[in-house]
Amino acid sequence: MKLDATEYPRRRGQLMSQLCENSIAIIPAAASHVRNRDVEYLYRQDSDFYYLTGFDEEEGVLVLIPGREHGEYVLFCQEKDKQMETWTGRRVGPDAAPEVLGCDDAFPVSDIDDILPGLIEGRDRIYANLGVSPEFDQRLMGWVNHIKSQVRNGSRPPREFCGLDHILHEMRLIKSDAEVDVMQRAAEISAEAHCRAMQMVKPGMYEYQLDAEITRTFMAAGSRWPAYPSIVGAGENACILHYTRNDMEIRDGDLVLIDAGCELDYYASDITRTFPANGKFSPEQKALYELVLQAQYAAIDEVKAGKHWNDPHDAAVNVLVSGLIDLGLLEGTLEANLESGDYRRFYMHKTGHWLGMDVHDVGEYRVDGQPRMLLNGMVLTVEPGLYVAPDDDSVDARWRGIGIRIEDDVVVREDGCEILTRAVPKTVEEVEALCQQGLD
Ligand code: GLY
Ligand code: MN
Ligand code: MN
Repeated sequence: MKLDATEYPRRRGQLMSQLCENSIAIIPAAASHVRNRDVEYLYRQDSDFYYLTGFDEEEGVLVLIPGREHGEYVLFCQEKDKQMETWTGRRVGPDAAPEVLGCDDAFPVSDIDDILPGLIEGRDRIYANLGVSPEFDQRLMGWVNHIKSQVRNGSRPPREFCGLDHILHEMRLIKSDAEVDVMQRAAEISAEAHCRAMQMVKPGMYEYQLDAEITRTFMAAGSRWPAYPSIVGAGENACILHYTRNDMEIRDGDLVLIDAGCELDYYASDITRTFPANGKFSPEQKALYELVLQAQYAAIDEVKAGKHWNDPHDAAVNVLVSGLIDLGLLEGTLEANLESGDYRRFYMHKTGHWLGMDVHDVGEYRVDGQPRMLLNGMVLTVEPGLYVAPDDDSVDARWRGIGIRIEDDVVVREDGCEILTRAVPKTVEEVEALCQQGLD
C-alpha cells in the first residue's frame, strides 16, 4: 500500500514555504549498520528523508533550495553500476531520478564534494539536523570550510546553521487522510496478527511460537518487518516493559502480553493485548484487567481536538489509582496517592505517544512548557497498564507477577477519535472467547 506520489511534492512545498529566504536544507539518507562482521541489518530509510522523497536507497542526500532558478529539489544518489547492482540490488541512478522521483536535478553522490559547496555558496542559512550523525556533520563542515577557504576569491559562506527538525516534525505530527489510510491498513494487519495469536495460544507453547505467527501474519500481508521488536511476555515476563527475549515456555495460568505492530510503507502500528494462556482469566487477573480496560476507555474518551496531551494520561491514572485502592493494592486516598506518586510502582510509563513513521513518532509533547493541545489528524497510542512486580511483598501474594497492558492507536478528530486498531477484541468476554476458539 503506497502513498500517492503527489504527497511528496506537496510535503516538500510545505516545508520550503517555511524556510527563510535564500536558504538551503540538506537531509542525508540513513546510514547502513553492521549486525555482525560483514552482515548488515536490513536497510531502513531515514523517516525524514523518506517523508520528503519516497526514495528508499542508501547513500542519498536530499537538497532543497527554495527559489533556486534551476530547480528547488536536488538529489544526490548512487550511480548506476551493473556489477554492484548484481550484488546489492537495483538503483534508480541520477539519469532516471528526475523522471522517477520528480527531482529537478540529480547527481552521482560520488560527486557531492565537488557540487554541493557550489549549491551552498551564497545562501545565508543552512537547515540541517546536526548531532544525529557525526560523519554527516563532519562532511557538512567540510563543505562549508571549503567555501570559507575561497572568500578571498569572492565566495560567500553561509552565516547561520539552523535545525530542521522543529519545522519538519511539526509537519509529520499531523497526518493527512492518505497517511491515515496507510496507518489504518497497518493497524488491520496487526489486528489480525493479535487475533491469530489469541486463537493459537496454549499452555506448553513457547513465546517465540506466538512471535513467529505474528511476524508471519505481518509479512504475508505485505509488511516487510515489525515497526519495533515484538514483545511476547508470558507470566512474570509481562512485567518487563521492553521484554524481547520471547524464549520462555507459556504455562497454564499465565497471562500473555503481546505488544507488536507491523510497519507498512514506512508507517507504524503499535498494539498491545493481554490474554489468558488457558482461555480463562483468574479472579485477580480479571480484576486488574478490567481496571486497565476501564482506564483505557477513560483515556480514549479524552482524545479529541481541543483536549491536551496530558488529559488521556491523567484520566487513566485516576481510574487506575482509584481501582488499586478499592482492590487493596494501594492505601490512602486518591489525592494522597496522586500526590506521592506511589502508584508508579504499578504504572511507571505514560499512557501514550505520537505514532507515525516512527513508532515513538516525532513532534513536541509540550509547547511553551505546557502540554500541547490535541489537533485533528494527530495519531497517538492509548496504552495504560498495570505491572505488579513478582517480588513486591507490599501486596498480597496472589497479585504478584501480573502484568497487563492494553494499547490501541487512535486518530484525533474534532468530535472524538477514530480507533484504528478497533478490530482486536479487548473485553474479558471477547478475549476469553477468542482464546478458547482455536485457529481454523
Ligand atoms: N511498543 C512500544 C510502545 O508501546 O511504546
Ligand atoms: Mn506498544
Ligand atoms: Mn506504544
